[in-house]
Amino acid sequence: MPDGQEVHYGDYVQDDRVHKAVYADQAVYESELDNIFHKKWIYIGHESQVPNPGDYWTTWVGKERMIMSRGSDGAVHVLYNRCPHRGSLICNNEHGNAGKAFRCPYHAWQFYMDGSVRQVPMKQGYDGVIDYKDPQFSMVRAERQGNYRGFIFASLSTEGEDLETYLGQGARAAFDDICNRSPQGEAEIVANCFRIIQHSNWKIFLENQLDAVHPSITHHSTGDAAAAMQKKYKDKTGDDAPMGYQFLADFTLPFEKWDSLQTVGFPNGHTQLTGYMGLRPRDPVTLAHEAALTDAYGAERMDEILSTNVHHVIVYPCLSVQPPLQQLRAVRPLGPNKTLTEIWHFRLKGAPDGIYERALAYYYHVNSPSTMVNADDLNNFRAIQEGLAMVGGGDWVSLHRNAGQDTVDNGVTHSVTGMSEMPMRNMFAAWKQFMTEGN
Ligand code: FES
Ligand SMILES: [Fe+2]
Repeated sequence: MPDGQEVHYGDYVQDDRVHKAVYADQAVYESELDNIFHKKWIYIGHESQVPNPGDYWTTWVGKERMIMSRGSDGAVHVLYNRCPHRGSLICNNEHGNAGKAFRCPYHAWQFYMDGSVRQVPMKQGYDGVIDYKDPQFSMVRAERQGNYRGFIFASLSTEGEDLETYLGQGARAAFDDICNRSPQGEAEIVANCFRIIQHSNWKIFLENQLDAVHPSITHHSTGDAAAAMQKKYKDKTGDDAPMGYQFLADFTLPFEKWDSLQTVGFPNGHTQLTGYMGLRPRDPVTLAHEAALTDAYGAERMDEILSTNVHHVIVYPCLSVQPPLQQLRAVRPLGPNKTLTEIWHFRLKGAPDGIYERALAYYYHVNSPSTMVNADDLNNFRAIQEGLAMVGGGDWVSLHRNAGQDTVDNGVTHSVTGMSEMPMRNMFAAWKQFMTEGN
């Protein structure tokens, strides 16, 4: 933007390009926290992280430190991690079981798992001074919390769409597809997660997830090495190599294959990549899964469930989900150029062990911090951030691929090819809407 001109964040986003300031400017970042992370529905965790009364798990929503807890009545609560006495963090550990109550480490005020006061030590000092039932002496609850099929979200604003409406069909599909693959209709998180601090903006990670042009370039060497090992294994043993090799070999698919996929953009920035992997081979694990789902739901419904081929879903602005492989990555921004990602995976209740082993293999081989795939991406993210932080060299980031060729039907955008930059344009349309709708 020219010097001296008043900046409107909406001007940073055009139909086919965005200004570099959206990735690198501290003021833009602070405004993102106010207008997006502290207002919209943000993923907290899965209810199975707190299976027992007294269990808690801490996390962030934007700049705010939050606690997810389970009360003695079984209810899940989302609270600010702040003591109403003198303001200390209540939980300094990442997770644990607090027993009947949280106990502040500073002066030992105690709070039930819903945040209400249980006990205050030496309370004669307060006799006739305060009423503990006054909400100002309780831990504060998230302004709103919601649960979609076991996935807990919070919004730190009292206003806006309810959770289901906000997620819409596009984002709900992520959780439906995970849960429907369980013969019991439920998923269970496998604790703990991997964590990565990325030295790059949170949006760079989300954009990369549905960027179907980069895999055969960035991950070419990884894919080639895996394909070579796969062949060697088969030549030597006569058997197919373990599935992990295929997960990596898929990264070197020819461009025609990526081209044939499709991405779908939904309101609020939620975006899907459909197709990609055929996960219904005729191996014994898949057959056992089909049998378990047929027992639970009948053959027709089993076929419908396993034919759902949504490989990847961005739940904007906080999640990347790969439902057929039960993977979820949560994005926690820590600054314009610093982002924490939590990498989780799930077990499908009632599904054969081999289905879990498949999820675990993908978790280790593709999404873990130690995989070569992730290392390739992290290096790109760092290099992008460093390029965007420069003063010279250009101000704009191009999102032109297949611009103007997407088809929009009833608010849902279909890309003309899997390699279109429609997902980035769709996420930025929501970004622009969120950043300017309060003005
Ligand atoms: S700050 Fe928590 S009890 Fe004093
Ligand atoms: Fe990648």
